Amino acid sequence: MIDSVKNGLEIKVLDEQDIPLMKDLKIEGFRQFSLEYLKRFIKTQDTYGFIAKENNIVVGLCYGHVFRRPDKDSCGFHLSSIGVAEQFQNRGIGSKLLDFVQNFAFEKLQCCKCFLSTLKSDAAACHFYEKQGWTSDSDDVLYYINRKTST
Ligand SMILES: CC(C)(COP(=O)(O)OP(=O)(O)OC[C@H]1O[C@@H](n2cnc3c(N)ncnc32)[C@H](O)[C@@H]1OP(=O)(O)O)[C@@H](O)C(=O)NCCC(=O)NCCS
Repeated sequence: MIDSVKNGLEIKVLDEQDIPLMKDLKIEGFRQFSLEYLKRFIKTQDTYGFIAKENNIVVGLCYGHVFRRPDKDSCGFHLSSIGVAEQFQNRGIGSKLLDFVQNFAFEKLQCCKCFLSTLKSDAAACHFYEKQGWTSDSDDVLYYINRKTST
């Protein structure tokens, strides 16, 4: 599924053919991509990657997964991460990528909600999501626990 190819920019679901194009992709805050891991990642059920490609170079990536509920016939999409390579930022690519992911989650996956977590202190990221219409309820709290590592 391809959203649009405008001015050489293509937004699409990540598939195996795109993976070799990602070997040089560097995004602030993302670890270097292991191509083998990416191959396994896209084959995992309910897990999705989305990319922005410009002139056959991958310049942006977003990924996440579907949460299914046992108590009703609905699901949500959790967006784990989004990033655009630094030299391509502030050109609308991140917004188009996020738009594509939302549409894909709502229309194709029939999710009724998309959600993500980010640091409140990351004002730039919060601004980006809010500009795209995402909201944060001040009553929402994220709890988490890390697996203990044995020493
Ligand atoms: C956040 C990010 C995906 C936005 O992508 P983008 O292609 O630059 O976004 P767009 O051009 O569509 O929109 C730009 C808007 O995002 C905001 N923004 C958020 N983070 C930014 C950043 N690190 N650098 C530049 N702009 C950023 C800008 O303020 C701008 O808003 P404005 O037009 O009102 O000034 C991208 O900046 C990025 O990869 N940042 C590093 C990773 C990150 O912070 N990810 C999100 C947290 S998980």
